[in-house]
Amino acid sequence: MKRIFATSRIGDPAENRLREHGYELEVFQGPEAPPKTLIIEKVKSGIDALITTLRDPIDAEIFEVGKGSLKVVAQIAVGFDNINRADANKYKIPFTNTADVLTEATAEFGFFMLGMLARKMYSSERLVRDGKWPSWHPFLPFLGDEVTGKTIAIIGTGRIGLAMIKKCSGFDMNILCYDPAYQNHNYIASIQAVMDLRHATGVQKERTWIKYVELEEAMRGADYVSIHVPLLLDIETDKPTYHFINEKMLKLMKPTAYLVNTSRGPVVDEKALAKALKDKVIAGAALDVFEKEPLPADSPLLDPEIADRTRLFHHFASGGQITRLSVDPDKGMAGRTAQAVIDVLEGNYGGDPAKMPYVVNKEAFEEK
Ligand code: GLV
Repeated sequence: MKRIFATSRIGDPAENRLREHGYELEVFQGPEAPPKTLIIEKVKSGIDALITTLRDPIDAEIFEVGKGSLKVVAQIAVGFDNINRADANKYKIPFTNTADVLTEATAEFGFFMLGMLARKMYSSERLVRDGKWPSWHPFLPFLGDEVTGKTIAIIGTGRIGLAMIKKCSGFDMNILCYDPAYQNHNYIASIQAVMDLRHATGVQKERTWIKYVELEEAMRGADYVSIHVPLLLDIETDKPTYHFINEKMLKLMKPTAYLVNTSRGPVVDEKALAKALKDKVIAGAALDVFEKEPLPADSPLLDPEIADRTRLFHHFASGGQITRLSVDPDKGMAGRTAQAVIDVLEGNYGGDPAKMPYVVNKEAFEEK
């Protein structure tokens, strides 16, 4: 019988699907991640598949003990910076992710974070709850900033960046795009055509625009900056994104501009960001991801002095019911993870990982 170890629950429907396939599934009940020593122990015991979350460091140490038995690592996330790709390739172990099914959920959450930050929704609700709402007033005790008609910079135009563009265009925003590695000019042209049609038909009063620009122009010109790049270290690429948003970048932004990050925490230098918020170099930030998760109690981002302009979330952007738990591989991360395991263990696609849709490191299996 094939054996699977999951480092976390992935919900009944997907877990049952694996069991119905005749696999023996052992699940670490959490809710925290298991220690790496436990993962090593399980892999060493000869499991065929390992289901991981972004909290599990997966590297040569794991692949070494899985030599000859471990057939796939299936990650329930689109990001896979916790998995050492070079090591997986060296050991020729396919690993999979859950791209696509979380694209819209993540982008909409990013947009809601932006709205919540700019329109000061948290401060407004606190006012009501704390009994500190004295009277309706034209501008007291504070005002927010509109989103409609403003300019957003989308840093990273992969799947989620493009979905964010789609949401923003619906709010009559102008859009500056930047991507160091991947540009989708067709998509941008389609969005411009939709913007033009909305304007021509009177759906939208002002004509809006979208264009690719250089990084500096994007950072300087935006009222909002939204980050959608993967975390890449300089040892793995010539275009690293670690601390991509640093003191220098923050200083390029308008003092009235807001930063939104739904990508990976280490893409932003948190110390530099907290200082920029304190010194009012920028107007605010909404963050769903952090350099260290959960966010440590002594993080400078928790400084009460910047609480009015800092919105913080628990890495929750993909956290919709269907997105996280649907057993349908075209809808849910759990369903896609289960299907990825099934593809490998049942030898679908002729047993060739290079042909399996959810395998990330296809290069390790492609014929040279
Ligand atoms: C979540 O952050 C993911 O990568 O899916």
